[in-house]
Amino acid sequence: MSLRDAELDAVARPIERARGLPNGCYTDEAVFARERERIFARTWSAIGFGQDVPCAGDAKPVDFLGMPLVMVRDGAGEIRVFHNICRHRGMVLVAEAGNVGRVVRCPYHAWCYGLDGALRSTPNVGGPGVHEHAAIQPAELALKTVGGHVWRDVVFVDLSGQAPAFEDHAAPLIERWREFDSPLFAGGADSVMSLEIAANWKLLIDNTCEAYHLPSIHPGLNSYSRLEDHYGIMEPGLFSGQGTTAYGP
Ligand code: FES
Repeated sequence: MSLRDAELDAVARPIERARGLPNGCYTDEAVFARERERIFARTWSAIGFGQDVPCAGDAKPVDFLGMPLVMVRDGAGEIRVFHNICRHRGMVLVAEAGNVGRVVRCPYHAWCYGLDGALRSTPNVGGPGVHEHAAIQPAELALKTVGGHVWRDVVFVDLSGQAPAFEDHAAPLIERWREFDSPLFAGGADSVMSLEIAANWKLLIDNTCEAYHLPSIHPGLNSYSRLEDHYGIMEPGLFSGQGTTAYGP
């Protein structure tokens, strides 16, 4: 699907006369493939939270754009992100979130990787009871690392490895959130909400950028943070969303 100029012009009109994106932008697999390549794979994208892997040895698989990744908390408390693929025959290493202990052990032939991704052991690779082979050089077979950065406990990755440093890329956003320093976001089980949404990602963004639906969909929220208390946030090319001047449930 390709957007015609007329369709784009209609989207970019002043809001009173603007049209939404054509339906295909939300449903066409080819559009999504292009977004994957041009938006998400080229720069920093969020894939999870530090609290998903709170302890050393915790590992959580993440399917990101169809690519199997795994977040791992190492012994020093750092979060690392690897391709969740064994360097031997490509088995998915971590199928479910949990604690792997000190090594990530492949479920197929039991090669073991340290929490830093280094290949630590290759049992029986040289024959029964022989755990080395001249053709298997552990130094060349570490897990593939993905560039990651944790900001406010959100784990970001740069699949391309070409993006600017996160602090540069997200400088306007970091500046905007500076006033919300912790302990406002102290975390904890009662501050977590999980949503699984079967929709194109843009539909979710569209929704969270408007408060118009508040009285009809969220009457409870609207009772203490009313429609008229909300304001839009729109910094083209940087970030968007909405805020409220009153929040006292
Ligand atoms: Fe992982 Fe063989 S595929 S050890």
